[in-house]
Amino acid sequence: MSENGTVVASESYTKRPRMALALLGVGLVIMLAGLLFGYDQGVISGALDGIKRDFHVNTFLLEIITSWVTLGAMAGAIAAGAMADKFGRRWTILLASILFTLGALIEALAPGSTILVIGRLTVGFGVGVASVAAPLYASEMAPARLRGRFVSLYQFAITAGIFAAYFVDFLLQGSDRWRLMLGISAVPAVLLVIAVVPLPDSPRWYMKMLRRNDAQKSLKRIEPHCDVEERLDEIAKSVEDDSKKSMSWMGVFALQWRKPLMIGVTLAILQQLTGINAIIYYANQIFASAGFTSPDSQSKATLWAVGGVNVIATLVAVMWVDRFGRKPLLLIGTTGMFLSLVTVGAMFFSLDKIDAGTTARVSESQAGIVTVIALVVFIASFAFSLGPVVWTVINEIFPSEVRGKAVAVATAANWFAAWLVSQFFLTLVDAIGSSGVFWLFAFFCIVTFIFVKRVMPETKGRTLEEIQEMWGDKKKLHDAIHEHL
Ligand code: BGC
Repeated sequence: MSENGTVVASESYTKRPRMALALLGVGLVIMLAGLLFGYDQGVISGALDGIKRDFHVNTFLLEIITSWVTLGAMAGAIAAGAMADKFGRRWTILLASILFTLGALIEALAPGSTILVIGRLTVGFGVGVASVAAPLYASEMAPARLRGRFVSLYQFAITAGIFAAYFVDFLLQGSDRWRLMLGISAVPAVLLVIAVVPLPDSPRWYMKMLRRNDAQKSLKRIEPHCDVEERLDEIAKSVEDDSKKSMSWMGVFALQWRKPLMIGVTLAILQQLTGINAIIYYANQIFASAGFTSPDSQSKATLWAVGGVNVIATLVAVMWVDRFGRKPLLLIGTTGMFLSLVTVGAMFFSLDKIDAGTTARVSESQAGIVTVIALVVFIASFAFSLGPVVWTVINEIFPSEVRGKAVAVATAANWFAAWLVSQFFLTLVDAIGSSGVFWLFAFFCIVTFIFVKRVMPETKGRTLEEIQEMWGDKKKLHDAIHEHL
């Protein structure tokens, strides 16, 4: 008996560090994938000036260099689901990190703008693949009690990555260092390879591939204390149910699911049309036009007012987001975003008047300060509303038979809208002025507000089954749309 007891105790001692290591490994993978995503989004802001000087590019080409990361990401997001099913989650993440590394090196060594664009597309494809595969891997590896936290960690890591990119931009500012700024993202990409290699694939994927032995080993590493055989039977049953119910791509667009698809895709697009990535990508240039004359002061404003505030507000949001309803958060957030965009637009309007020699109501330094404050309010309002809530809603409104593909459609729509904004931001500024563009973003905040108020149902506090039922029941849907409002 005592012998037996000793064996059990020592076994659990040896299992525990292995489990902790495996979970740490998964946490590291999700954190590094998010960091890379954010870094590649943020870094271009500080690199644009140097690229412009070295390659003598015009506005249109500058926009292509900035925005084709998102185009690559759109293609990556669409391809990722099939890749993750065929090659496994782990190999898909490995492939994404290899693409990141390759893309970063192409960018850093690019002799001209065409190769630079190829590098941006390659990095983007990796970002898109990882943006689907890493959360999928984390949600299948994490024990249920940690699942929510792992997915929030990803959100947080994206903003930390944007901050890290701004910090590197700030340290390396100066004309020809842009190659280093872009090339540095190869470092976390290599770390990601190192983090993924020793980990197993998810038990769910192994079961899908009918590799029960591997599934058993993987499950034992992450949840050594559960009843492994019972869990594997459960997984096998749910894999079987899913494959029976699983829809073709056309099925995703069936009349029956049109409502949730319309809501998911519209929210994904509005999240971008309200301007977040124009500010993330072109922050330095916005501060430059608002009167921050030295590159040092521009980088500092970008680092803290955009990067720092984004991290802190996201941290607060991730801790609180589940306590409030989705709709109130979105309504308050879009109101804050609207007010700050209108203010930034008004500042640029006054600055245009100064440039034109007509009397303006504000001086250049006042305009700079007001712009910083308004952008802080904008970023903070986004970070607790449209930022995390849109992704939460997209992941909970679809019934399981279409969820995977519908989430991919909404994610690709989000990347497409991000591309539209970053591709045409500078051209639009040239055409209608900075004030006009910020007021256009403000207009989309009104559209978002009305859409959320009138069309979107509240999903907080409902089980996934209740949400599914709602789509076919007019009364329930009506009640959920008008709840507490
Ligand atoms: C958006 C990204 C954006 C990021 C900023 C995310 O929710 O989807 O496009 O860059 O928030 O924090």
